[in-house]
Amino acid sequence: MVETILPVELKNAIVRKGEKDIIGPLDLSFGATGCSILIGPNGAGKTTFLRLLHGLERTNSGAVRWAAKKSDVFSRQSFVFQSPVVLRRSGIENIAYPLYVRGVAKKAARTEAEKWIDEIGLGDVGCYDAHVFSGGEKQKLAMARALITKPEVLFLDEPTANLDGASTLEIERLILAAREAGTRIIMATHDFGQAKRLADEILFMYRGKIRERKPTDAFFNTPETEEAHKFIRGDLLL
Ligand SMILES: Nc1ncnc2c1ncn2[C@@H]1O[C@H](COP(=O)(O)OP(=O)(O)OP(=O)(O)O)[C@@H](O)[C@H]1O
Ligand SMILES: [Mg+2]
Repeated sequence: MVETILPVELKNAIVRKGEKDIIGPLDLSFGATGCSILIGPNGAGKTTFLRLLHGLERTNSGAVRWAAKKSDVFSRQSFVFQSPVVLRRSGIENIAYPLYVRGVAKKAARTEAEKWIDEIGLGDVGCYDAHVFSGGEKQKLAMARALITKPEVLFLDEPTANLDGASTLEIERLILAAREAGTRIIMATHDFGQAKRLADEILFMYRGKIRERKPTDAFFNTPETEEAHKFIRGDLLL
């Protein structure tokens, strides 16, 4: 197995739906460490961009290149969606599932999942069918399931969009801990406070292109483009 799947590089990457280029052309790369946050108006292409990197979308031209071969890349990254995907089984089994898929023995996988269910504060309800969990609990479950494999890269698409303040901070704590442990974080959010709390750098996306990429403070204090200025102010962007 190769040492690292990073950096990942986009070369003249375009994603087209129908007649429209919804992403690109994009030329950029992500190195091995840190937290990059995508912001931009609805429909800018953030979700498509994350899905493209994760391998759920294909380029119509150009390429996404990782430092490792495809089979290594997919198993060493995780994706947390805005609406958490919950499997029809107990909380613990939900968390253990990615380990089963990777061939880890059942007992070892369950032991690890039990650690994680405590870590996310759901130890008391870990045996219940996860479908009865609240939205915030489901999202914490999705985080634990994403993190149990110790992914090299974690993609998150508005992971706290439907959560209250306390649950949001709990999810942020898990993201920060993963980052500390060396996981590369690439995420989208509409929450400026969250972007300021978590991001090392901001990528401002508008109409399928990255219009600015800057360290977080520099972006919010001195945005360069008129569109970023308006977006930060809360003006309507057409
Ligand atoms: N399968 C598809 N067919 C046609 N258009 C699509 C498809 N998927 C996405 N789009 C369009 O691509 C654009 C980008 O969508 P995307 O979901 O990536 O935006 P976003 O930045 O994540 O928006 P939001 O902030 O609302 O989540 C939108 O205009 C959307 O309608
Ligand atoms: Mg989106």
